[in-house]
Amino acid sequence: PQVCWLSPEQTAGKQKPYMYTQGQAVLNRSFFPCFDTPSVKFTYSATVQVPEGFTAVMSATSWEKQKDNTFVFKMSQPIPSYLIALVVGDIVSADVGPRSRVWAEPCLIEAAKKEYDGVIEEFLVVGEKLFGPYVWGRYDILFMPPSFPFGGMENPCLTFVTPCLLAGDRSLVDVIIHEISHSWFGNLVTNATWGEFWLNEGFTMYAQRRISTEVYGLPYTCLEAATGRALLRQHMDATGEDHPLNKLRVVIEPGLWGVNPDDTYNETPYEKGYCFVSYLAHLVGNQSKFDAFLQAYVNRFKFQSITADDTLGFFLEYFPDLKEKGVDSIPGFEFDRWLNMPGWPPYLPDLSPGQQLMRPADELAELWAADSLNMEAIEAVDITGWRTYQLVYFLDQVLQKSPLPEGNVKRLSKMYPKISKAQNAELRLRWCQIVLRNNLEAEYSKVKDFLHSQGKQKYTLPLYRAMWGGSEATRALAMETFSATAPQLHVNVQNYVKKILGLGQTE
Ligand code: BES
Ligand code: ZN
Repeated sequence: PQVCWLSPEQTAGKQKPYMYTQGQAVLNRSFFPCFDTPSVKFTYSATVQVPEGFTAVMSATSWEKQKDNTFVFKMSQPIPSYLIALVVGDIVSADVGPRSRVWAEPCLIEAAKKEYDGVIEEFLVVGEKLFGPYVWGRYDILFMPPSFPFGGMENPCLTFVTPCLLAGDRSLVDVIIHEISHSWFGNLVTNATWGEFWLNEGFTMYAQRRISTEVYGLPYTCLEAATGRALLRQHMDATGEDHPLNKLRVVIEPGLWGVNPDDTYNETPYEKGYCFVSYLAHLVGNQSKFDAFLQAYVNRFKFQSITADDTLGFFLEYFPDLKEKGVDSIPGFEFDRWLNMPGWPPYLPDLSPGQQLMRPADELAELWAADSLNMEAIEAVDITGWRTYQLVYFLDQVLQKSPLPEGNVKRLSKMYPKISKAQNAELRLRWCQIVLRNNLEAEYSKVKDFLHSQGKQKYTLPLYRAMWGGSEATRALAMETFSATAPQLHVNVQNYVKKILGLGQTE
């Protein structure tokens, strides 16, 4: 299941086949023999021979083309098995910074270069200032075919990303900042078990938002964080707060065949993890002291795999006065509760600096939810200058209030073609969710088109869940869309959709 073989039709250029690997969490054991656990780290080298007209790239510190279409790779830093990755395809590259280039199929390379030319280096420099040296040499970005199941995958030296990021306006760059942040949290300091995945993702969300705050300022970063909090809210509403997966430390118990850690994937390690790291920063009470702690933490545990006990033990050791005060056992906020109790985070970082961007969106959503629409007030709000994440936030509010009174969504659609005809994937996802929640049959084709255009898990599963939880018509739409698109989806995503649609699993 780890090695994905795509036919020419499944690529952007539709001329040549393509293959890629996706290791995280435990798929690389079907690619090469290994200790497929994040607790073991090693260096590697690889020799890959490909047919004429193809290029091979890997997550490696050095890359060399030899005769006979043979590529030789070497990763000189120890990494866990899940970070080894290979792509072979008709791909070319273009420089976008002193240590960065983009890779893509020839037909996408111009767009890829334009999207990130000159911006990557600043993120790396800010990351180094905050968290210490970038040890991986290069930071390159590979734009994958549309069926790639993730927004981004932090393969060292060579992040893989969905082509959905090619929005034309850099509006989805937070994904790149996220993957860059893994260069310290995840790739250098690694969760020793998948049950503590939040150590990778929660710290990375925190690091991502620290970099974003330095580069784009606090209001914008709080707005982006608010959309993350909305995702956590949606997830907990859907699963119930007490669901065992809504703990930071997940018990992955071996059943008869063992549990696949990918099946435990959800928003909790990301956004509740972010809240816990923010809580630790709040306990310290001083941003630069906490930044210094993060740098010391990376330095202490680099190239190692650790558990939350190591992290929290080091925190208390680094701040002896906090240890003295017993901050690990403040009633309601016990570290043990954070780790082992399911539920909504006991502490939420203050996102009010984002209010200036969120308030207009909150107010506009309120207007659209009214029984009789106040068109004068609605028309007085000019959304043409809104940032993508402001629109995303607005749509999340509309979705939360949906179904809206009869007819409102239809008018909303007409009023804002910028939203209902958007090409930006984050906007398309929300618009499709709104269409489904409001049974706007006239626009069901947009759901179908979106699911045909890409195969990212975080876009695909929520839409199938919404279709399956809806009417007869949306269930039929789900079945029809899945039978047409299944072959182009990653096998994991295929299986999750089958589960949603109650189709027998083929193991
Ligand atoms: N490492 C993850 C992707 C992943 C997680 C792959 C678990 C396989 C198993 C990556 O860093 C990630 O979190 N990507 C997010 C980006 C977002 C949070 C900005 C994604 O793909 O949506
Ligand atoms: Zn991540």
